Order: sequence, then structure tokens, then C-alpha cells
Amino acid sequence: MITLCTFLVLFLGVIHCQFPRSCTTSAALRSKTCCPLWQDGSPCGSRSGRGQCRNNVVFTPLVSGRVRQFYDDRLNWPRFYFDNTCKCFGNFSGYNCGQCKYGHTGAECDREKTVERKEIRQLSLMERKRFFSYLALAKTTKSADFVVLSTGDRHHRDSYRFVDATIFDVFAWIHYYSMKPLLVNGTFDFSTNYAHQGPAFPGWHRLGLMFFEREIQLLSGDEDFAIPYYDWRGEKNCSICTNEFLGASNVQGFLDDGSHFAFWKSMCSGFNYADAYCQTAGDECQRERLHRKPGSDPRASSLPSFQDVEDTLKWRDFDTAPYNTTSRRSLRSALEGFLGPSDGTTLGRNMHNLVHIYLGGTMSQVTISSNDPIFLLHHCFVDKIFEEWLQRYNGTPDHYPENNQFGQGPNECATPYFPCYRNKDFLCSSSKLGYKFSKYQGM
Ligand SMILES: *[C@@H]1O[C@H](CO)[C@@H](O)[C@H](O)[C@H]1NC(C)=O
Ligand SMILES: *[C@@H]1O[C@H](CO)[C@@H](O)[C@H](O)[C@H]1NC(C)=O
Ligand SMILES: *[C@@H]1O[C@H](CO)[C@@H](O)[C@H](O)[C@H]1NC(C)=O
Ligand SMILES: *[C@@H]1O[C@H](CO)[C@@H](O)[C@H](O)[C@H]1NC(C)=O
Repeated sequence: MITLCTFLVLFLGVIHCQFPRSCTTSAALRSKTCCPLWQDGSPCGSRSGRGQCRNNVVFTPLVSGRVRQFYDDRLNWPRFYFDNTCKCFGNFSGYNCGQCKYGHTGAECDREKTVERKEIRQLSLMERKRFFSYLALAKTTKSADFVVLSTGDRHHRDSYRFVDATIFDVFAWIHYYSMKPLLVNGTFDFSTNYAHQGPAFPGWHRLGLMFFEREIQLLSGDEDFAIPYYDWRGEKNCSICTNEFLGASNVQGFLDDGSHFAFWKSMCSGFNYADAYCQTAGDECQRERLHRKPGSDPRASSLPSFQDVEDTLKWRDFDTAPYNTTSRRSLRSALEGFLGPSDGTTLGRNMHNLVHIYLGGTMSQVTISSNDPIFLLHHCFVDKIFEEWLQRYNGTPDHYPENNQFGQGPNECATPYFPCYRNKDFLCSSSKLGYKFSKYQGM
């Protein structure tokens, strides 16, 4: 930590990190304190009774049964960076208790709020255009609240830099950062990450969408904004891959010049080295254009069917041992797409994973896939299926299992979000979190 701070002071002056910008000053990092002032001038809005700066607010015990004498900055999130964070009271939330909990609104956060997520083809032309203009704004507006972490060498803390990113790119980075291989005793473990291949998968992505939806609401002032979904069941091809919707591709596979996202470039693309964290973060020139090649990968020549979704929903157990890609008869593993959904035992590519590979290009490079806006629509539909399961089986946080995946314990914080949200807390009705889904094609 000393070297990191020295570096930051010497070379960057005041720096910023989904890391709240105000928690990445050298003073905040040195004191391991992330308790930013609210508008009343007190940390965590304590003077107004919104919250308090507390030690050890995160729920993860520092020492657990597992061997953890190795270094990975994301482990026990966010303890590597911060010991003191805001504990917000009542319906207040946010890294400085300046916001309301999801699903709440008003100055006192005492009113409930629910937005409706619709299938993109259910939006009026006006609504659709609005959605694309919000995305364009998010892609070009620097995030005031958050900065991202960048390094070419994860082993050396003094090479870590915190850099500005746009609101959309902060979202893309969060996914990227959660997926980098684990640093174990100086070597990389590629078999696990913080957001996939384990029980955290549905909730982690649920939170990612909620985070981005909220960011768009704040950016646009449109409190009713909801992310649309893409119901890909039974599609013969990607029918929203046209310039009126998410964009057609040209012969090289780049998004067509006439599409809304033609000139978007991918955050963290280019150098997918295990020991880098988005080393090209600050450098526009090093970024690749978005590309997509629907249906051209022989490993995934079609999209999941209506029956595949029905079959996925028949697995009653949220997840099963060993809670990784080999789990059988597991809703999580079937939905994530490591299982044949009908028998629940054949391992293979299906559902969520199949859609990524089917779309190809940026979407099939899973670490950077979140750069393609179609990622939002895809995951929004995955979340709709998860919600359908929660309602059918009355899912609650108690269904979330203890497990051995790093960062995916029921009481561990979803990595790398601020403030801390426990992985198990997303097993609840989406209406409690502030959104619901429209009905479309019988679901
Ligand atoms: C929190 O919000 C609920 C509505 O969901 C409201 O009934 C309750 O009074 C609020 N609590 C506080 C402490 O404001
Ligand atoms: C890390 O290396 C040390 C020393 O070589 C060894 O004792 C320890 O078991 C290793 N830890 C892990 C998690 O592999
Ligand atoms: C999908 O297939 C239909 C019918 O074969 C075709 O008309 C349409 O252009 C295709 N759409 C895309 C985006 O490839
Ligand atoms: C899944 O977990 C089991 C039991 O811990 C382990 O033997 C296996 O190697 C794991 N598989 C993968 C792909 O991580």
C-alpha cells in the first residue's frame, strides 16, 4: 500500500477508482477509508442521519476456512483497498449514502418505485430512439462518481493507475475486472472468477444491470428508464441485428457504418493478458471497434429455443455441488449455459453461453463482451428468466448455497461493486429491487 500511495502522490496527484472517485485520493487510500462526504458536508451524511462511517462494514470475515495466503486485490472485496466504508441507514444507500436503495425514491427515500423492462420490439419508435440516445450519452460522458483501475502488471502495485472512464465504460470495466484470472501465489488460476462459473452468476449480473439502469436514470433525469431485453427464444437469426435496432454487421464483421454503435470502441480490448487490468484504459487509439458475426460460429449455429428455456426452468435447485461448471441439475448452471437444459446432466454449451458465442465477435470474447450494448439486452433477458424461476419456486436468499468459489460465498460482497451487496441478496423478487418485466411471447 505504501508503494501504491507513494506512486499516486508522486505521479498522479489526486487520483480517483468502480472505485468511487472520492475514495481514491492518496489520503483515502492510505487510511483505507471510503466514507465520502454527502452534501451536508459530513461523511456518509451522518449529520443528517443517513449513515455512518464504520470499520469492517463489509460482511466477509477476513479469515475463513480457505487457504488464502496469496495476493489478489479483489479477494475479500473491498478489503484490499478499504477497511472503513459507509453503513447507510433505513432506505438510504450509495457509496456515500447519498442515494436511495434500489426500488426507492424521493428525498427521504420513503416512496417505492418500480420501472418496467420491455422487450425491445415492444418499445415505440420514440422510446427506442430515446434508449439509443441515452446510450450514446453514456458512452461519451465522463463518470463524475467513478474511475477505473488500470495496470500492465498486476504483480506490481506501484504500476496501478486509476483513470477516468465514461459511464458506459465504467460498466464495461466492472465486468472485465471481475473476470480476470485469480492471482494465486504469483501464478494465475483461470478456472474461476468473481462473476461466472458459480452461484454468483445470476445475482452479479442482476446488480450490474441495476447499477447501469440507475446511472442512466441519473444521467438523463428520466426516472422511468428501464433497460429493454432481447427475447431470443426460437429466433432463426438475430432479428434485432439490423440498423434500426442493435446494428447490422459489415462483411468484415464490424458493426455497419449506418448503425447506432458503428464507431464505438471497446474498453480494455486488444491486450488480453492475464497480468493486465485494462492497460489501454486511457488510450483511445489502442481500442478495437465493436464487431459481431451472428450465426457464423460453427460451435453455435442457432439460438436457444422456447423449449430450452422451459427445460431450464424445471430445475428447482438454485445451484448444486460442486458449484462450478460441472454442477448438474442446477438452475444456475443450466441458465449460465454449461448444461443441456432438458436432462440437466449432459455438459455442453447452451442458453446464456450459447447466445454469446452465437453473436460472435466482441460478444464471444467474454471478458470484453460487456462493451457491446447487445450485452445489456441479452443479460436483461437472462435476468427475466431468473425472475421467472424465483417466482415459480418462491426463491429467497436462503436458497443461495455455501460454496468454495472465490468471492461467491452467500455473505461475500459482489465484486467489485460499491457499496457492498451480498451475493445472496439478489434472490428476491425484482419488484423489491425496483423493476419488473413486461409479458412477451407467453412469458
Ligand atoms: C422505507 O421505504 C418503505 C417503502 O418501501 C417505507 O414504508 C418506509 O417507511 C421507509 N423507511 C424509512 C425509515 O423511511
Ligand atoms: C503458496 O506458496 C506457499 C510457499 O510455497 C505454500 O506454502 C502455500 O501452500 C501456497 N498457497 C497456495 C494457496 O497455493
Ligand atoms: C434473418 O432471416 C430472415 C429470413 O431468412 C432475413 O430476411 C433477414 O434478413 C435475416 N436477418 C438478419 C439480421 O440476418
Ligand atoms: C469443479 O469442482 C470439483 C470439486 O471441487 C473439482 O474437482 C473440479 O476440478 C472443478 N471443475 C472445474 C472445471 O473447475
